[in-house]
Amino acid sequence: MRVAIIGQGYVGLTISTFAAKNHKVVGFDLNQVIVDALNKGISHIEGVLSQDIKQSLSLGNYMATTDGAMINDSEVVVIAVPTPLDDNRKPDLTYIHSACKVIAENLTGPALIINESTSFPGTIRNYIKPAIEKYSKQKFDHMYAISPERVDPGREDYNQKNTPRLYAGLTPEATKRTRDFYSTFCDNLVEVSSPEVAEAAKLFENTFRQVNIALVNELAQISHALGIDVRETLDAAGTKPYGFMKFSPSAGVGGHCIPVDPSYLAAVAEKAGVEATFIKRANEVNLDMPKYIASRIAKDNGGSAKGKKVLVVGVAYKPNVADTRETPAELLIDALKDLGAVVTWNDPVVGSWHGNESSPLAGVDIAVVVTKHDAVDSEDILQSAPYVFDTTGKVKGAVQL
Ligand SMILES: NC(=O)c1ccc[n+]([C@@H]2O[C@H](COP(=O)([O-])OP(=O)(O)OC[C@H]3O[C@@H](n4cnc5c(N)ncnc54)[C@H](O)[C@@H]3O)[C@@H](O)[C@H]2O)c1
Repeated sequence: MRVAIIGQGYVGLTISTFAAKNHKVVGFDLNQVIVDALNKGISHIEGVLSQDIKQSLSLGNYMATTDGAMINDSEVVVIAVPTPLDDNRKPDLTYIHSACKVIAENLTGPALIINESTSFPGTIRNYIKPAIEKYSKQKFDHMYAISPERVDPGREDYNQKNTPRLYAGLTPEATKRTRDFYSTFCDNLVEVSSPEVAEAAKLFENTFRQVNIALVNELAQISHALGIDVRETLDAAGTKPYGFMKFSPSAGVGGHCIPVDPSYLAAVAEKAGVEATFIKRANEVNLDMPKYIASRIAKDNGGSAKGKKVLVVGVAYKPNVADTRETPAELLIDALKDLGAVVTWNDPVVGSWHGNESSPLAGVDIAVVVTKHDAVDSEDILQSAPYVFDTTGKVKGAVQL
C-alpha cells in the first residue's frame, strides 16, 4: 500500500519504520531539520534505529518530506501529531487541524484516514472528518478510522508487533481496511464496536495510571506523617495475589501522555455535564508533589533552603530516556527556587536542556533524585552532597520520599 504518516515524532516514526517493511511510506513532517536527518537515515527517536531507516530508504520504501504534495496518491493516511493542552489545560487540536488541512489539500483520490493521535471520543467523527471535508476542493469518499497508539518509549518487551492494538472505523468497510493495514505489522488486533470506544479506552488507560499514581503519591505523604515506610507498605500490599496493582510514589507524572490525556477525558466529560472529580484531584496531587518535596527538603535542612546549592539529579521524565516533556523536574526546580535555593541539574542522558548543559554530579549542599538512569551510579549520587533526597526508591542510603 502507499502510506502517508503525518508527523514523524515518537509515534509517527515508529509506525513508519514498521509499515515500511511492507509498504511504500511517505513520512510527512513540518520540521525541515527532522526531515533532512531522516532522509540521511538518522533517527531522532529513541527506540527507532537509524539502521532501520537507512534500510527502508535504500529499499525505496521510505522517504521523509515537508512537501504535502508527496502524499497525493496515498491509499492510507495515518495522523500522528501532538495533542497537547492549551494554557487553560484544555484540549488543543491545533496540530490535528493543520494535519487535516494538509491531507485535504493534497489527496487526489479516496483514502483510508486513520487517527493515532490521542484525543477525546468523537474526534474522528465530529472533528477530523468534517475538517477534511471542509478543506477538500474535490469531494472524495474517504474512509475514517481510529487506532490509538500505545507505544511506550524506551520499552523493549512490547512494540508495534506484539502490543494489542484497538481499532474501529466509522463504517464496516473502514474497519475492515484498517484491520488489513495493521495486520501487516501487528499480531494482535482488537476490534471494538465504534471509534468512540477506542478513543475512550485510550484515555481511560492513561487516566487509570494518572489517578493511581496520585493515590500512591498521597499515600507517600500520609506514610511520612505517620512515620511508616511507604515502599515497604506497598511491597507488603503487593503480596496479595489478586485485586491489587502496585504503583510507586514519585516526584509527579511526566511525558506526553499521563499528565495530558486525562484532561482530554475531563474536558469531554464536562461538556457532557459530568464533573470528572477524580481526574481533577489526581492532577492537583501530582502537580503539587514537587512543592511537597521542596518543603520536606527545606524542613530537613534547618527549615530553609535559602542560599543552598541544590542539584536536581535526573530531569528526564522517566529512566533511561532523554525525553523531558512535562517532566516534574521542571516544577521541582521552580519550587526549590521559590524557597531561595540555587538550583542546578544533572542528567547525562538528557545532556542539554533549556539551552543549558548538565552540571557535574558533585559539590552541592543538597541533591534530589527525580529520575534514576541506569548510567548514573547511586554511589556517585550519594557522594555528591551531604544530604541526598531520593524520590525514586532506587538510591539506598538517601532520605526517601
Ligand atoms: N510519545 C508517546 O509515547 C505516545 C504514546 C501514545 C500516544 N501518543 C500520542 O501520539 C500523538 C503524537 O505524539 P508524539 O509523541 O509522536 O509527538 P512528537 O512531538 O514526538 O511528534 C510529533 C511530530 O509531528 C510533527 N507535526 C506537528 N504538526 C504537524 C502537521 N500538521 N503535519 C505534520 N507534522 C506535524 C512535529 O513536527 C513532530 O515531529 C499525540 O497525540 C500523543 O499523545 C504518544
